[in-house]
Amino acid sequence: MGRQYVIAGNWKMYKTAEESREFVRALAKEFSDAPGLTVIVFPPFTSLQAVSGLDPRVHIGAQNLFFEEQGAFTGEISALMLRGLAEYALVGHSERRQVFHESDGDVNRKLLAALAAGLKPVLCVGETLPEREAGQTLDKVKGQLDRGLAGVTGGDWERVIVAYEPIWAIGTGRNATPQQAEEVHRHIRGTLGEKAPGRAIPILYGGSVKPENSLELLAQENISGVLVGGASLKVDQFSAIIRSGLKLLGA
Ligand code: 13P
Repeated sequence: MGRQYVIAGNWKMYKTAEESREFVRALAKEFSDAPGLTVIVFPPFTSLQAVSGLDPRVHIGAQNLFFEEQGAFTGEISALMLRGLAEYALVGHSERRQVFHESDGDVNRKLLAALAAGLKPVLCVGETLPEREAGQTLDKVKGQLDRGLAGVTGGDWERVIVAYEPIWAIGTGRNATPQQAEEVHRHIRGTLGEKAPGRAIPILYGGSVKPENSLELLAQENISGVLVGGASLKVDQFSAIIRSGLKLLGA
């Protein structure tokens, strides 16, 4: 099988429903479909209805979910509620872990709940700057993968995506170099190979991805796509990153 690229935009807490709809309409005009390309946007919950089904080339994901199906959990959204509105769901984004104190155990329950509801979870992992400087990057990421992916079995692996997002590179303008990213991606590929032999699980890189660095990042052997924050909020920048993927696909 040839190369496949996932180009994903995490909008975080930006864009109203109307702005989200306008964005997807405008984005759809800026790129043509190609075999091997998957474009996903992750808008806030309040925009999911507005963008769901707008354009078949722009896939939709949620930024979070709660692991219970329903109940007295004020303010939370379940995987069941996302069905039909979102195809993907981020779990364990570093902002969820750091700002909202989500543990690896919480992240694992969310991932399993997403799978049980038929969604495709994107498990986010990554180290802090002190962890990198202490040489703990690979151990940190391995631990997050071991705990986050516990209990995944059989055909469910086909719906799992992993995103490596070094925390020191998120929103800082300081991306991991392609070589730094590739080193961790190779390690993640090895870990996933032990858990799910023979499955081609996409591994995305995230952290200050811009049009200018996207081509070189995507060209790395074990980078199967990018998860873009800031630059995914602008149609011209996000579509330029999509075009980097298209270029490498030869489309
Ligand atoms: P930035 O691209 O703004 O650094 O954000 C990365 C990110 O957190 C994507 O999930």
